[in-house]
Amino acid sequence: MSGMINDDIIEKVNDSSDLVDIVSKYLSLKRTGGNYVGLCPFHNEKTPSFTVSKTKQLFHCFGCGEGGDAISFIMKMENLSFIDAVKFLAREQGIPLEEGSSIDKELISQKEKIYEINREAARFYYYNLINNEKTLKYLKDRNINRKTLNRFGLGYAVDSWNSIYRYLQGKGYSVEDIEKAGLIARRRDGSGYYDKFRNRLMFPIIDTRGRVIGFGGRVLDDSMPKYLNTQDTIVFTKGNNLYGLNLIKDHSNRERIILVEGYMDVIALFGNGIDYGVAGLGTAFTPNQVKLLKRYGKEIYICYDSDTAGIKATMKTLKLIRKEGVEPKIIVLPSGKDPDDFINEYGLKEFQKLLDESLNHIEYEIYIYKKKYDLSDVEDKIKFTKEIAKTLRGLKSPIEKDVYIDKVSMDTGISREAIQKEVLGKKFNSSTTIRRDKYINGKYRDNKNEIKPIKTVLEPAHLTAEKTLVKMMIKNRNYYNIIKEHLTMEDFFNYECRTLVGIICDEYGNNQELVELDSSNLLEDLKGYEMDVNILGQIIDGNTEFLPEDRIKLIDDLVKTIKYYNLKIERERVTKRIQEIESSRDSEEGVVEEFKLLCLKLTELDKKLKSHI
Ligand code: CTP
Ligand code: MN
Repeated sequence: MSGMINDDIIEKVNDSSDLVDIVSKYLSLKRTGGNYVGLCPFHNEKTPSFTVSKTKQLFHCFGCGEGGDAISFIMKMENLSFIDAVKFLAREQGIPLEEGSSIDKELISQKEKIYEINREAARFYYYNLINNEKTLKYLKDRNINRKTLNRFGLGYAVDSWNSIYRYLQGKGYSVEDIEKAGLIARRRDGSGYYDKFRNRLMFPIIDTRGRVIGFGGRVLDDSMPKYLNTQDTIVFTKGNNLYGLNLIKDHSNRERIILVEGYMDVIALFGNGIDYGVAGLGTAFTPNQVKLLKRYGKEIYICYDSDTAGIKATMKTLKLIRKEGVEPKIIVLPSGKDPDDFINEYGLKEFQKLLDESLNHIEYEIYIYKKKYDLSDVEDKIKFTKEIAKTLRGLKSPIEKDVYIDKVSMDTGISREAIQKEVLGKKFNSSTTIRRDKYINGKYRDNKNEIKPIKTVLEPAHLTAEKTLVKMMIKNRNYYNIIKEHLTMEDFFNYECRTLVGIICDEYGNNQELVELDSSNLLEDLKGYEMDVNILGQIIDGNTEFLPEDRIKLIDDLVKTIKYYNLKIERERVTKRIQEIESSRDSEEGVVEEFKLLCLKLTELDKKLKSHI
C-alpha cells in the first residue's frame, strides 16, 4: 500500500480538516446563522455571496456558481491537481504521506462496488420491511414511527437462506463482491453461499458521506445472538465508525453529542427529539471513535445502560475519552434502564433533566462508590474513603482537589481531615507516614493496595485474631519479633489494627531498647486518624493476663487464622471478578487472558485453603 494515496487518506484528509478553517486562511468569513459567508475568491464581488456550510463541509458561491468540498477548494485556490490538493491538505493536517504517492485506483473502485452493493441491499431490506406486517408491528410496539424508520433506513431481512443472495445476483453483482460486502457466507461444505442475515430487523450503518458501510441485524424475539453485525470489510472498520454519525452530520449543531450503547438507543433518542446520539458498533470503544466524538460534539456525554455491565463500560470509556484530552459528562439513568427505556417511558423533558444533572468523572465515581459501599458501616466507610482518595489523588489542580475533598466530606459526613490525609498521603505529616510503608518483615513495597477494594466485614474470629496479635505486639517485643516473621502490615485487614501495626513497627524499629510499648505514646501517634475508639480501646487497654500459658502456640494459631481468612477474602475477590467477567459481554483478548489467570488462581487458592483445615 506504500506510495499510494488511497481512499483512507482522502477520507482522513476530509475528516480532519474543517472547511471553515481552511477557507478562513484565504478570506475572512462572517457567521450568519448556521453558515459562514465572505467575498468570493473566485470572482470579483463587493457583497459577500460565497457561503461555507460548517455542518455539510461544503462551499458554494451564489455569484459565480463555484462549489465543492475542502479538496476542490484547495484545487481551485492553489491551482493544484486532485492528488496534489490531497497532499497539500494532508501536509497541513499532519497526515503522513509517502513521497511520490499516487491514487490506488483499484482499491477505490473495489470499495465503490461494495458501497453500491450495500446500498442495494439496504433498499431491498427496506422494501421488505414496509411490506412486512410483523416487523412493522414490532417497531410500532417499540414506539418507532414511520419518519424515524425512514430516517434510519431500517429494513427487514426475510427468513430465507438465499433472498439477498438471489436479489443481488439478479442485479448483476458477482458472488465474490457480495461476499466481500459481508452479506453472504460460503457454506461449510463448500457447496455454495447463504444469506448471513435472516429474519432480522436490519440497521444500515451509514458513514458521514452517506454511504452504507455495513449492517446490524436484530432478532425479533428472544433468540440468540440478539445482534449480528457485518464483519469488518474493506469499507467497514467497526472501531473507526459510530452508529448514527450520518444523522449527526446533517442535523446536529455539534454542540453536544451523546454516546449510548445500542442501536435502539440512538433511534429512540432521535425519535424523541434528541438528534445527537451515537453508538459504538458492538465492540469495545476505541481512540479513533473518541476522535469522532470530539469532531462532532463540543461536549461529550456518555449515557450507557445502568446495569453492572453498563457501569463497567462507562468507567472504561470514560478513561479512554479522558486520555484523549476531553472531559466527558455522564448521564445517569435509573437502575436497570437504558436510554431507550427511559425516554420512551418518561419523555424528552425528563431526559433533558438528566442531561442537565449529568456528572463529571469525579462526581460519577463518587456516585458509584456510594452505591457500592454502605456508609453507615465503619469498615465500608474507610474503604470508600480510600477509593475516592485514589481518584482525587489523580487530579492535577490542588484547587480542584480541595473542592472535591469538601464535596466528598459533605456528601458522606466523613471528616475533611480524614479524606485529606488519604488524598495527600505521604506528603501530609510525612515524618510518620513514610516509615509506616515498611513491611514488618523488612520487605519494602508500595502501598497501592493498602486496603483491598472489596466489601468485607471481618468474621469475628478474624477480627479477634488481629486484635489479639496487635495487643501482644504492644505488650512484648519478643512477640513482635515472632509475629513479624510471619505477617506483614498488609495482612491486617481491620483499619485500626493495620494502622497500629504500622506505628508499632516504627516504635520498635526506632528504639532498640524498648521491650514493650506505652499505650499513651501510641494514642499520641494516632492523633489525626479517624479511628473506631471501641476497637482501639479493646486493643490498647485490654490486658493480656487471660491469654493461655503457651503464648507461642497461641501466636502460631492466630497467625494461621489470619492467613486462612486472608485466603478466603482473596478467594472472594477472585470469584467476584470471575462472575463479573462471565456476566459481561466482554470478549477482548486481555479479558480472556485475565479470566484464565483468575481460574488458575482460584485452583491455587482452594488448594491452600484445604491445607489449612
Ligand atoms: N450487541 C452486539 N451483539 C450482541 C449484543 C449486543 O453487537 N449479541 C451490540 C449492539 O450494537 C447493540 C449494543 O451492543 O446495539 C447494545 O446491546 P443491547 O443493550 O443488548 O441492545 P439494544 O440496542 O439496547 O437493543 P434492544 O433495546 O432491542 O435490546
Ligand atoms: Mn435496549
